[in-house]
Parts: sequence; C-alpha cells; structure tokens
Amino acid sequence: MTCVVIVGTQWGDEGKGKVVDYFAGKADIVVRFSGGNNAGHTVVVKGKKYAFHLMPCGAVRGKQLIIGNGVVVDPKVLLEEIELLKKDGITPKLSISERAHVIFPYHGTLDELEEQFKGKMKAGTTKRGIGPCYEDKAGRFGLRMCDIVNKEMLKEKIEHLFKLKEKQIQVYGGKFDFTKEQLIEEYTAYGAKLKSCVGDVNLSLNKAIDEGKKVLFEGTQGTMLDIDHGIYPVGTSCNVIAGAACTGAGVGPTKIDTVVGLAKAYVSRVGEGPLPTELLDETGEYIRKKGAEFGTTTGRPRRVGWLDMPALKYACRVNGINWLAITKLDVLAGLEKVKICTAYTIDKKVLEDIPSSCELLSRCKPVYKEMKGWKGFAEGQAEGVAKNGFDELPKELKDYVAEVSKLSNTSPCLISIGPGREETIILKDVFGK
Ligand code: GDP
Ligand code: IMO
Ligand code: MG
Repeated sequence: MTCVVIVGTQWGDEGKGKVVDYFAGKADIVVRFSGGNNAGHTVVVKGKKYAFHLMPCGAVRGKQLIIGNGVVVDPKVLLEEIELLKKDGITPKLSISERAHVIFPYHGTLDELEEQFKGKMKAGTTKRGIGPCYEDKAGRFGLRMCDIVNKEMLKEKIEHLFKLKEKQIQVYGGKFDFTKEQLIEEYTAYGAKLKSCVGDVNLSLNKAIDEGKKVLFEGTQGTMLDIDHGIYPVGTSCNVIAGAACTGAGVGPTKIDTVVGLAKAYVSRVGEGPLPTELLDETGEYIRKKGAEFGTTTGRPRRVGWLDMPALKYACRVNGINWLAITKLDVLAGLEKVKICTAYTIDKKVLEDIPSSCELLSRCKPVYKEMKGWKGFAEGQAEGVAKNGFDELPKELKDYVAEVSKLSNTSPCLISIGPGREETIILKDVFGK
C-alpha cells in the first residue's frame, strides 16, 4: 500500500492528529488536503502535547509535509506554527501548493457577520474565516498562495477586491477595519517568508507516488461536517471525505489504496446542529470531563453522545472505508453500561440510515443497544496495557469493538486507549500488504 487516506467519520475531533502521527511512522509524506485552521489536531508524544491547525501532523516525526490546494491557508497562523515547531527543535520540511487559497482578515470579519445574520440557522463556526474564504474561491474572487508570493500581483488584486469586500461587510452592518496598504504590506511580508515553500506541489507528490513513496493523507473535520455529504447547513464549507484527498491534493482516485475511518468510541460535536445521541445528563458530563472534550481550536466545550451507528455506516459508505481506527475507548471505561445507537425512530417509524435533512435528523430519536461497560486502567497504565496487545484487553471492551465492527461491517486496524503515541494497539499495518 502506498496511499492511505485518514478521515473522520463523525463530527470531527475523532483523534485524527493522534492516528496520523502514529501511521506517519511508516509514511514518507503527510498531506493536508482540506479545511484550514478550523482544524485542531493533537499529537501527544512522551507527555509533550502538540496542537496543529494547518501543519500536517507528520511534522513531529520529521516527515515531508504538503499543504495541498484544497486547504485554505491563514499565513499568519502557519508562520506561528512553524516558529513553535522550531522552538521545539523541529524544522518542518513543508511544501505548500501555489493553488491553495489564502485567508485574509476580512474573511474572519465576514465569518462573524454571516453567523450573526443567520441567527438560529448558524453553524457555530470557528470564526476563522473558513467559509468566506471558500466562498471567494467558488466565486473566483480568491487570492491564492501564488498571488501572495508575487508582490505586484498581490497589490493589483487587493486594489481590485478592496471595494467589494468593504461593501460586503457594510451590507451586514459591519465595519471594515483595514486599509489597502496594511493588507498589502502584511501579506507581502507573509509571502516573502513563505516563498521558498510554495510551488506546484502536485507535480512532486505524483512523482513520489509513482516512485512508490508511502503517502498519508490527513483528513480534517468529519464526514458529518462535509459540505455535500454532511448535515447541511451546519457543517463546514468544503469537502472533507476521502474523495477530497484527490481534488484537494491533485492525485487521481486510482492512486488511493486504502481509506481509514476514524471513530471515537462515542461522538462529540462543537457548534450547532442536531446530534441525535447527545447526552445532556451526568453521563455526558462524565465523558466530557474524562475525555477532555473541549475544542482544540476554540476551547469550546464539546457536546457528547453515544456512538451513532447510522452516522458511522453512512461514513463508511461515502468514504469507501476499508479499515476503522477506534479511539478514546479508555474514556468510556468505568461506566457500568455503554450504549450504541443502532437506528433512529421518527414519527414511530424506524430509520436504519441517517436522513440527509437537518430538520428530519433533529426529530430523530435514537434506538439503543446496551452493552456492559469495562473497568478502567490505573493512571499511567495504558501504555503497558497497549503493549500486552488486544487479546489482553477487558472482555467487555473487546465485545464493544466487535459489535462496532459487526454493525459497521468494517474491521478495526487501530485501537486507541489514551492520547499518547504508545497508548495504541495496532491490528493491521495499513501500509503493509
Ligand atoms: P482531531 O481533530 O480528530 O485530531 O482530534 P482533536 O485533537 O481535536 O481531539 C482529540 C483529543 O483526544 C485530543 O486531545 C487527543 O490528545 C485526545 N485523544 C486521542 N486519542 C485518545 C484516546 O484514545 N484516549 C484519550 N483519552 N484521549 C485521546
Ligand atoms: P477537526 O479537524 C470539530 C465545525 C464548527 C462548526 C462547523 C463550521 O479538528 O476535527 P467552520 O469554522 O469550519 O466554518 O465551522 O464545523 N468544525 C469542527 N468541529 N472539529 C473540527 O476540525 C472542525 N472544523 C469545523 O464547530 O460547527
Ligand atoms: Mg480537532
């Protein structure tokens, strides 16, 4: 296997950072293909925590890194991440697609204003300007990395766009806080700093694939947040499913060998929108606390709920998932009973599949299968437990994994029982034969 895509099957924050870092051990190149700094991916190695927003998580292992054309880049955030890594003694080997679109401060302002305007219909965005940047991309008003590394081009395009952005912000009753000169100066400086990393990365990426290099495509968000296949309109503004690895990096679908779907042992959601299995009781509070379910990007408390099988089955379908990575099984430990939502009911009818309409989903009530919980491991024991392998795990935990596997019709390749790199059990080497 040479090309492996890792995607979230839920509403994001499934543990992509941890799993990408793990599999990056065997990869040559790690590629981001979607989203922007709305993503927050955490890697924990020997107690040291790294939180990435734009930098591919293969950075910690010193791998070659690519930010593909499908990503929207806030250069300020990216430069901060590069500096932080350098302080930790890591100089990231990063290339950025010249086709990737760039986030400007007016995108952030518009993000806030659009959310205010939408009121009850808002998605609860991360306010990082992601949606307005993708709007500009689709509207062909966007500026790309190739523009900010070219001072004349940047100046010409900003001069042209400035009036439009000013008007858009005024339509929402907002104030345009920037001068043309400021924007040109700031972004020329970013362009100059990033210039050496910017290029036609898809050329080198495809060459590397043809040479048999192992490439890991790092998904962002989760299937339920995909602009087409997620719960519209409360998701994000781009495609995040496995197919987006092709469009967001410029790689043909025939090159992708394997798709790994990431599922947390329960679900979480930051932001608005229906979450049929949401737990608003003390069990929810227990899971949120124990799982440290607070946004990596915004710090917002995450809503949590039992594992949602109609959503997971759907994710397996639209992503073409071959293998499942199940994370945070340690968080459910200590509960007497755990539940899996196997279907929904709506108006007394049973629904096995997730509906595409946000309105219908918000009326869905979960049907649960109850299972026995498992005992927790003592503090600091997870690494040792992981070393002992899957067979030595508590029977109830193994039963839970088997049930998830059966209901989703996929096999687990990785089991995660703690945030640390070593708190992991591998059942299938995804880069192996
Ligand atoms: P991502 O957006 O999918 O990369 O996930 P986040 O990094 O936003 O959130 C996942 C959180 O769970 C991070 O704090 C991880 O360190 C942590 N985490 C990942 N896997 C596990 C696990 O198996 N157990 C526990 N307790 N924490 C985990
Ligand atoms: P990772 O990659 C969880 C959610 C926001 C909001 C909606 C739209 O860390 O899993 P946006 O700022 O993208 O316009 O917000 O999507 N959202 C995420 N939730 N994890 C993420 O990324 C997310 N990225 C966006 O909370 O509901
Ligand atoms: Mg996250």
